[in-house]
Amino acid sequence: MKKSIITIAAAVCMAAVLTACGGSQTKTETTAAATETAGTEAAAGETSAEGSEAATEAAGGKLVMVTNAEFPPYEFRESNEIVGIDADIARAIADKLGMELEIQDMAFDSLIPAIQSGKADFAAAGMTVNEDRKKNVDFTDTYAEAAQVIIVKEDSDIASPDDLTGKKIGVQTGTTGDIYADDIENGDIQRFNKGMEAVMSLTQGKIDAVIIDREPAKVFVKENEGLKILDEAFTEEEYAIAIKKDNTELVDKFNTAIKELKESGELQKIVDKYITAE
Ligand code: ARG
Repeated sequence: MKKSIITIAAAVCMAAVLTACGGSQTKTETTAAATETAGTEAAAGETSAEGSEAATEAAGGKLVMVTNAEFPPYEFRESNEIVGIDADIARAIADKLGMELEIQDMAFDSLIPAIQSGKADFAAAGMTVNEDRKKNVDFTDTYAEAAQVIIVKEDSDIASPDDLTGKKIGVQTGTTGDIYADDIENGDIQRFNKGMEAVMSLTQGKIDAVIIDREPAKVFVKENEGLKILDEAFTEEEYAIAIKKDNTELVDKFNTAIKELKESGELQKIVDKYITAE
């Protein structure tokens, strides 16, 4: 039922596309499911066709979000729709701002370039705040605590981060797991486009361990037999939404919305929808 209302709204919206569409009255959901993971190309699609920066669109009522939907429970595909904690938070923020939301899916290491070039307004992708990234984008207030953990086979001799010396370690390209793995002495780092591909490689015995964020790690270990997560985390970190550098106006708006979502308990509700307490 809800779906058909959205579809009708979308149709009306299409018809009225040259007039004032997508303002606070019309909350059309344009989850760009058709935009398959395809690097920066995906972001170039519709947005650049309109000839202007996504950032200026924000004023006209549309927010373009980029993510890498290979990261359950934060973002993943369900019958070709991008769902998850980040997608829900972004929708809630867009609702608060009275804006339309479009979600584009791309490689994780294309997200920051997409924001920098103005193809996207923001990235919500379980993105860890770090100093290096802060040089290229601004971050909102944090909305989740996270950690990098180590996945190994159940019978592995790797029992702590110290045991990773000289091992074959799988990571998702450009993630903080990738960055930390780089520091492991004599580590043989294998980079994958998707975290799940690293996990597959581990189950096939091609690598010894995977360094990845805790919540997706839990999902992947549940879905694949014979794996476990080491108790000792590699690092603790925090997630925030990335926005174009010096777009303080949008950062402020997002921070206000995030604060409201935290205070009203709505944020926790979203988390609880996707992460069940152990
Ligand atoms: N938290 C890690 C980072 O920021 C991994 C995020 C991966 N996110 C994703 N949607 N694939 O580097």
